[in-house]
Amino acid sequence: MLDRDSVAAVDSTAQFAEVLDLGTHMRDALWRVESSGAAPVDASGGLIVAGMGGSAIGGRLVAAGLGSRLTRPLAIADGYELPGWAGPQTLVLCSSYSGRTEETLACYDDAVARGAPRMVATTGGELAERARRDGVPVIPIPGGFQPRAAVGYSLVSALEAARLAGAAPSLAGEIEAAAALADELAAEWGPDGPEDSDAKTIARALHGTIPVIGGAELAAAAAYRWKSEINENASVPAFTSVLPEAGHNEIVGWPAARELGRFGVVLLEDPRANPRNRLRTELTGELVEAGAEVVLHASARGVTRLERLVSLVLLGDLVSIYLAVLRGEDPVDIGPLDTLKAALARR
Ligand code: F6R
Repeated sequence: MLDRDSVAAVDSTAQFAEVLDLGTHMRDALWRVESSGAAPVDASGGLIVAGMGGSAIGGRLVAAGLGSRLTRPLAIADGYELPGWAGPQTLVLCSSYSGRTEETLACYDDAVARGAPRMVATTGGELAERARRDGVPVIPIPGGFQPRAAVGYSLVSALEAARLAGAAPSLAGEIEAAAALADELAAEWGPDGPEDSDAKTIARALHGTIPVIGGAELAAAAAYRWKSEINENASVPAFTSVLPEAGHNEIVGWPAARELGRFGVVLLEDPRANPRNRLRTELTGELVEAGAEVVLHASARGVTRLERLVSLVLLGDLVSIYLAVLRGEDPVDIGPLDTLKAALARR
């Protein structure tokens, strides 16, 4: 059973409850952006979201949520410096849950050096200190959970930053609607939902395999979230397959996959994607069957782009925690990530 008791038996920090609260986080985030006092900036160069891992995810999802409503450039800075074209005409959102991530702090300093207008989303740390020193608006993210469980906050912060940069319209109404859908889906896919819900069924099918999550357009962005949540919560390797590109290279390798390992493929689908991409996803699934243990399809729910994106994100987050339960892993445990950060801090 993947019920409340079996989840509680491994989930020492109640991360599952935070995942189920996605809708609440999104509504709260809207209010927190407003309370930061961040003012619009006419950023003709667009928006750069600087961040890593769970704090970068909002930036990675935002283009998918906006689609053609994004009218200025949007880039992710997931390293130690901003792209060469960043400058006074570019709004930089520095997003770090802890406020201590060295790459994000370096990007903040790079933005200062380039005279770029800045905003910060954090719970505190050195990033909040630097922002306060410089009079830069801070979106106060609530403390006490895993950075990756704050996806509702990082997504809404990035959507609002795109609006403030003049790169997108306000999506406040769509955010409220997507939050309401997340509440509904959390009840359907959560531990009190049926044992044959999509989330529990997919987790059981992926158990014992190396997950590969594929998708096109907005489903590609969600696929990256699935991969990183499975990595961090279930402590297994997992990979992303981005369509249509995968049809031009990766597809050739699949027949040999079974000789090399047990792969479990989930193809995420957006019913409103380009029909050629929908057809590609279907045909890719048929070809991948030659080498994968299991090939599953999961379709986005909801009407608006943001609803469809959020539904896929929530499904992946829940699958990753159910997988952790099936593996007997506490989802909070990210040992190798902590070891790497500690080793870097000593040098
Ligand atoms: C941990 C997690 C990580 C962190 C990343 C950056 O839950 O998801 O991917 O988000 O190491 O750290 P922060 O978010 O503190 O900037």
